[in-house]
Amino acid sequence: MKTLRDLSLCDKRVLVRVDFNVPMDEHLNITDDIRIRTALPTIRYILENKGKLILCSHMGRPKGKRVEAFSLAPVAVYLQGLLGREVRLASDCIGPEVEALVATMRPGDVVLLENLRFHKEETDNEPGFAEKLARLADIYVNDAFAASHRAHASVVGVADCVQEKAAGFLLQMEMEYFHKSMDEPIRPLAALVGGAKVSSKLGALQNMLDRVDRLIIGGAMANTFLKSMGVDVGASKIEEDLLQTAKELLEAAEHKGVKVFLPMDFVAADRFAPDAVVKNVTFRDVPKEWMALDIGPATVLYFQEALADARTIVWNGPMGAFEMDAFAQGTMAMCRTVAASHALSIIGGGDSNAAVKKSGEEKNISYMSTGGGAFLELMEGKTLPGVAALG
Ligand code: 3PG
Repeated sequence: MKTLRDLSLCDKRVLVRVDFNVPMDEHLNITDDIRIRTALPTIRYILENKGKLILCSHMGRPKGKRVEAFSLAPVAVYLQGLLGREVRLASDCIGPEVEALVATMRPGDVVLLENLRFHKEETDNEPGFAEKLARLADIYVNDAFAASHRAHASVVGVADCVQEKAAGFLLQMEMEYFHKSMDEPIRPLAALVGGAKVSSKLGALQNMLDRVDRLIIGGAMANTFLKSMGVDVGASKIEEDLLQTAKELLEAAEHKGVKVFLPMDFVAADRFAPDAVVKNVTFRDVPKEWMALDIGPATVLYFQEALADARTIVWNGPMGAFEMDAFAQGTMAMCRTVAASHALSIIGGGDSNAAVKKSGEEKNISYMSTGGGAFLELMEGKTLPGVAALG
């Protein structure tokens, strides 16, 4: 796979697929700019090397129609502020008007194409659409790690239509950190996995069993594992249809010599509400109508011990319903623990990243991935289509 430094960019039209799918409030203010900031090294490098920079991205899921709420206009303004130079927003991402605009570009100019997903052909990976995108460029660069699990036209199709293609610095860095943590980790390697559902992490859990030394499971998904061992978890969320699978996963872990850590106590509540009645209980004592909504203090100590001598930590998914303060302590404690650890720590997924942000520990984590679905697919052991397309 080529990288940016392998290319001569001067005077070339460089089409860069970025993931500027950023959250915005109701006034279209960007509420988290990490995906824009992490694209800056690639953007700056191309501009310093006198390329003509054409950025393209999706925003939301407008389902092939032009929806103004999903326009990239706020991103163009924001990026212009960060770069201190003009960022022109094209009226569309393909077509004669865009081609005419690109034809006027000089080295160091920046154009942001309008939302790719205003065209259904983008998500369909339609060859004609990919060809029209490629027509805008001499060189194609993929720097959209967070969208690289999507076999879409701007991620996969376009790569087959250009002569020169490369990975941007963000994509390169994401892949390097993942490789360091999962393919060639310094051991012990501990995975901390949480979140609501076993079903959404099943592939990742199965793949992890062949790679990690310790598997620490928190979040609502831990309930299904405990229930599969015959523990009564009251009215806590579980996935009935996955009880057998959970049991088999625990057996497979034992067979492979992977030590699994499950919660030994919980913060339980009579309902999921900020003013719920809350108490700490052992894992065997969740009252009948109550729900386990966070790991308890004994579990925090237990998980801290499991992580104490880890040299590599991979984390995906929160330990509890941390969006409500009453159930945030377990996740916050794990954020502080991972941050204080000397291990190489890699965190991915929207919820885990939001939790780390809430804890204020971002700077003390070795690497926070910009990917949600893409990070999970790597944890599942899959090759990302966007990476494969770069050859
Ligand atoms: C994400 O936010 O995970 C990426 O931008 C991909 O978005 P998608 O799930 O709509 O394809």
